[in-house]
Amino acid sequence: MTSITVATEPAYTVEVGPGALAQVGALVADRRRVAIVSQQAIADRYAETVRSSIDAPTEVFLMGDGEVHKCLSTVEDLCRSFARWGLLRGDAVVALGGGVVGDTAGFAAAVYHRGVEVVQAPTTLLAMVDAAIGGKTAVNLAEGKNLVGAFHQPIGVVADTDTLGSLEPREYRSGLGEVAKYALMFDVAEDPTGLVDLLRTGTTSLLDREPALLADVVARCVKVKADVVARDPHERTGIRATLNLGHTLAHALEIAFEHRLTHGEAVAIGLVFVGALAGGCERVGIDVVDRFQAIPASLGLPVAVPEPESVSAAELLSLMARDKKASGGLTFVLPGPMGLELVEDPPTAALRYAFESVGIFQEKP
Ligand SMILES: NC(=O)c1ccc[n+]([C@@H]2O[C@H](COP(=O)([O-])OP(=O)(O)OC[C@H]3O[C@@H](n4cnc5c(N)ncnc54)[C@H](O)[C@@H]3O)[C@@H](O)[C@H]2O)c1
Repeated sequence: MTSITVATEPAYTVEVGPGALAQVGALVADRRRVAIVSQQAIADRYAETVRSSIDAPTEVFLMGDGEVHKCLSTVEDLCRSFARWGLLRGDAVVALGGGVVGDTAGFAAAVYHRGVEVVQAPTTLLAMVDAAIGGKTAVNLAEGKNLVGAFHQPIGVVADTDTLGSLEPREYRSGLGEVAKYALMFDVAEDPTGLVDLLRTGTTSLLDREPALLADVVARCVKVKADVVARDPHERTGIRATLNLGHTLAHALEIAFEHRLTHGEAVAIGLVFVGALAGGCERVGIDVVDRFQAIPASLGLPVAVPEPESVSAAELLSLMARDKKASGGLTFVLPGPMGLELVEDPPTAALRYAFESVGIFQEKP
């Protein structure tokens, strides 16, 4: 088991490894009641392990599966169910599931009784390396994703890598898109995470979900996220924006393809795009441009836009300009000699080169 501290105030730990779910009980010792929020298929497999680790009375509260259930009416249902069951201010909530459960249960915990403690128990690769850490909770409105939310740091995160064995292959691969992002966030000469080396030698084992390697890779990604979150817990200094490497195009692609691309697939294409964009801006050499393509490709992720004729560069540019992280024009997180930096309105020629690198030609090729 690897234990990683997220040095926010107060600090909390992320336990990563096989069998970690049994540690949930220790995090909520002395609570009078513990509400476990999950989805049916996940609860069927893993709720009993969590329940049996907890001394206090527990109850499982189910929510629907899918992004449409990450909404205010689910939060209301959960809070009303908590109230009927008698959950009080000093009790605790456990979010057992992927990012949809984590975000919804996390937000319900943030507002119920003006805030009850939450333990994040992520069961998807994406939630383990990203969504469960950092305290961002939110639900969607018809008007847009994650528009209502709160910062609510968990009292602990338990990432049981055994649970990843039951993930659908496409969901697992989607999480690898974020893993690729962490590997590409640093200068490869330093490779402080060791991820580039691990991915180079262990791709096949990682795709086979080899348990020891998987736990190692998750822990290394968690360390990066924990470090960035601790330096910018409320997303104020711009440091946390570096976690959005590859995400400007990814968000636009998710909208343009009406979510037929998973988040991780879109991030993979977004990584290829920013690698080429940085190359086109002469911030990095061709070796970096190639690496931003090679790492997602080695993980079996798409590196070009599928059905490129169905979307235009102009449409994607307009979607990217609307990205909520943009401070006016077009903003990208790009690698460069000083590491990752926010770059606004890159030159048209560099944008054209970046679009072409993912198979989108402004004029017919
Ligand atoms: N709060 C944050 O900082 C943050 C960061 C990134 C993403 N997110 C959010 O996370 C969400 C996406 O999360 P996700 O990719 O985990 O999707 P998800 O929660 O929808 O899970 C994907 C699917 O896998 C199933 N599943 C989960 N764990 C399983 C397991 N162990 N075995 C079998 N099936 C399992 C789920 O029931 C679901 O059908 C989005 O809503 C996104 O906005 C939040």
